[in-house]
Amino acid sequence: MVIIGMTNSSINLVFHHGLTLPHEHVTSLVRPCARFNLNYATTWGVTSSSKAQRLKEYKQLVRNSSISCEIVIASDEKYGNKQVVSLTPRLYDYVLENVREPEILRQLRAETASMHGSQMQVSPDQAQLLAMLVQILGAERCIEVGVYTGYSSLAIALVLPESGRLVACERDAKSLDVAKKYYQLAGVAHKVDVKLGLAADSLESLIMNGEAGSYDFAFIDAEKRMTEKYFEMLLQLVRIGGLIVIDNVLWHGKVADPLVSDPKTISIRNFNQRLMEDKRVSISMVPIGDGMTICRKR
Ligand SMILES: C[S@@+](CC[C@H](N)C(=O)[O-])C[C@H]1O[C@@H](n2cnc3c(N)ncnc32)[C@H](O)[C@@H]1O
Repeated sequence: MVIIGMTNSSINLVFHHGLTLPHEHVTSLVRPCARFNLNYATTWGVTSSSKAQRLKEYKQLVRNSSISCEIVIASDEKYGNKQVVSLTPRLYDYVLENVREPEILRQLRAETASMHGSQMQVSPDQAQLLAMLVQILGAERCIEVGVYTGYSSLAIALVLPESGRLVACERDAKSLDVAKKYYQLAGVAHKVDVKLGLAADSLESLIMNGEAGSYDFAFIDAEKRMTEKYFEMLLQLVRIGGLIVIDNVLWHGKVADPLVSDPKTISIRNFNQRLMEDKRVSISMVPIGDGMTICRKR
């Protein structure tokens, strides 16, 4: 059973009497305070006038209520009787308040905010997770595919030991200039080996250079239709037990929407499916940012 409701510590208002909402109604309910994944709602419909009446009452209740719009989607059986909390802006603000973002990363984010493509940057909570994975691994040799202005690569470089090395692959010289400036400012430039050019060429050179199996950690965040190719090359470069993390695996929710069939979505969807069946790696798809899959090479 699908339950849509609002929760806070004192009120848990849910629908559990069969009312289903078409997505335009859901979004109109939650628009002021939440972005809602429409995929959950695309197949729902209100057909009877009684349902329409109940929807009207529900809307009224929401408007008259002083409680926050924390949307919970749960299904007793499907989700093992757990409530699955969707990340509303308010809840996400709370998550961000609990991220320990280094000052230099905050400055880089502020500088990038006015630049073209700033939405491509990983979020602070994602960067923190990447840095933690690098630390847990004790990684010394890392690769990033898709640097942009350097937010995620700087987060990684900051936690690498002095002897560590990050190969940073990016084709855009202008955004790389910003990244290089911040590597210098942060005092980590000596750890970053910037490769300007097509990432596939840079990875190929590393393989040809006999570096297969010598890297601990890799992060893929570049051209989405190339993800599979990068993954295959990185699988050669990373050692057994090393990690490959792939960004944007949820692709703004489009991967789960059967009505979306543009080439990028299909490519990511197919990649996710192949990864699911790929016995060469252990995997964990994490709904953080736009979705990241963590792969551990077996
Ligand atoms: C999503 S952004 C990377 C964001 C970065 N990880 C961050 O947190 O700031 C993707 C980057 O990949 C770069 N890119 C796309 N295709 C590429 C390719 N074939 N070779 C190298 N870089 C590429 C783009 O120029 C862009 O800067």
